[in-house]
Amino acid sequence: MQSIDNFNFAGKKAFVRVDFNVPLDENFNITDDTRIRAALPTLKKILADGGSLIIGSHLGRPKGVTDKYSLKHILKHVSELLGVDVQFANDCIGEEAGAKAAALQPGEALLLENLRFYAEEEGKPRGLAEDATDEEKKAAKKAVKESQKEFTKRLASYADCYVNDAFGTAHRAHASTALIADYFDADHKMFGYLMEKEVKAVEKVLNDITRPFTAIMGGSKVSSKIEIIENLLNKVDNLIITGGMTYTFTKAMGGKIGKSICEDDKLDLALDLMKKAKEKGVNLVLAVDAKIADDFSNDAKTAYANVNEIPDGWEGLDIGPKTIALYAEVIKNSKTILWNGPTGVFEFENFTDGSRAVGEAIVEATKNGAFSLVGGGDSVACVNKFGLANGVSYVSTGGGALLEAIEGKVLPGIAAVKGEAYK
Ligand code: 3PG
Repeated sequence: MQSIDNFNFAGKKAFVRVDFNVPLDENFNITDDTRIRAALPTLKKILADGGSLIIGSHLGRPKGVTDKYSLKHILKHVSELLGVDVQFANDCIGEEAGAKAAALQPGEALLLENLRFYAEEEGKPRGLAEDATDEEKKAAKKAVKESQKEFTKRLASYADCYVNDAFGTAHRAHASTALIADYFDADHKMFGYLMEKEVKAVEKVLNDITRPFTAIMGGSKVSSKIEIIENLLNKVDNLIITGGMTYTFTKAMGGKIGKSICEDDKLDLALDLMKKAKEKGVNLVLAVDAKIADDFSNDAKTAYANVNEIPDGWEGLDIGPKTIALYAEVIKNSKTILWNGPTGVFEFENFTDGSRAVGEAIVEATKNGAFSLVGGGDSVACVNKFGLANGVSYVSTGGGALLEAIEGKVLPGIAAVKGEAYK
């Protein structure tokens, strides 16, 4: 496989797929530019070699052209970070984009408008009537798949080579993340530096594990984490299941959880996961106490309770001190750590203790030689909020992509560049 380090971009135009899907506030200011910064080494290397950049990204999940999701909002910031006056094409496949891409000189950069303004990027029909028949749905799907080929070909036509640096979107088999790779031969398609780093970090927790290996999985729904939990049961020594999922497990074991969040239809599943953990010799660690509140609000009245004795009218919004000590002990004795999802509602200042303590324990373990990978929107927000990002081995830019990679799924964005099969 071609590597970005070995490729000389002098005089070449590179189509670089990045994931600039960054959060914006109501005035279109970027509130977290981590993903843009993360792509800079790739973009800068191409410019420094004397290449030119055609940068493609999505922003949000628009269902057509909308100002809210225009990439023009981030243009200035991208230019500042890159140190180059980046040009902008108001449309990713129109005449303007083609002409601007064709006129690019070495050292110049062009940002294309949001690729998802076109249904062809995702390859899914849009605007179908709610009462569309199966026949109509099938025909619309066929039509968009057909026009997707032209769309992909058009994007590919701008460049001599393709660089995929969009790990955050690598789980999508979209035109610019996967299909486009077919238009370049093996010597002219490659990962960017960010993608290389992400792939290496994932491979480390999947295949190159120093034990004990501890995974900390938070989140409110067991149902959205089943696959990853089942996959992790084959790999880890300790599995800490935390966050809102705690209460589904507690209720499944007959505990009283008050009005805590719970998936009542997943109680059997929770018991089944516990049984599987036992069979596989995995130490499943669940909370023993909780910080409870009489309302879902930062200003609610609070107290501590055993996790299985939460009074009616109260709900668990974070773990309690006994659980913090329990988790910290497990984490500090680990040599490989994966953290996805906070222990509580960390957005509320009064319920941050558990997530902060987990982050701090991970930093301590990392200082003592553990490899730690933190990924998934909320846990990344946690380490940033608590100023712990520099103390962990790797902070992933991927949310869904990281989870799917750890579930052991083939990521189309990775497979396509390698010339491997994907669905
Ligand atoms: C993300 O934010 O996880 C990526 O940018 C992918 O976005 P998507 O879930 O809308 O495909």
